[in-house]
Amino acid sequence: MNVTVTVNGKAFTRAVEPRTLLVHFLREELGLTGTHVGCDTSQCGACTVHLNGDAVKSCTVLAVQADGMEVTTIEGLGTPAELHPLQAGFWEKHGLQCGFCTPGMIMSAAELLRHNPDPSEEEIRHHLEGNYCRCTGYHNIVRAVQEAARASRAAGQAEQAADD
Ligand code: FES
Ligand code: FES
Repeated sequence: MNVTVTVNGKAFTRAVEPRTLLVHFLREELGLTGTHVGCDTSQCGACTVHLNGDAVKSCTVLAVQADGMEVTTIEGLGTPAELHPLQAGFWEKHGLQCGFCTPGMIMSAAELLRHNPDPSEEEIRHHLEGNYCRCTGYHNIVRAVQEAARASRAAGQAEQAADD
């Protein structure tokens, strides 16, 4: 069956088998391999993307369920020349080692910062509970999210000052 999904602002129509998972659609049909498969059992969060603005584990969603919806993947957040504040935060605070968990971690953290621009350490840790990282111990990930929140708030203030 055909599905049409807008991914990172661009509409794609593809014929898929009804059992195709969204994560496989993104990786194999569209070549967006920044979304990772860590477990396939909805535990690890490596496959987290945004579906109509909400963070979801894309190994728990069928591609056909995303028909007509908007998906954002890690490739849609920033560019190497212009990193998203979370990407910059992970870079600056050494929030990754192997990096396998990082795209899902960032997509999940992006959802948190959209709803809560100034989260406490506890709120960050709570929000990232569904995202497993096997190698950082989370300390620098938390610092990276705090740094991104600080930078985003500062950018927002600068934008507001420019508008005033
Ligand atoms: S691959 Fe989806 S939660 Fe692990
Ligand atoms: S950086 Fe390796 S799993 Fe998180």
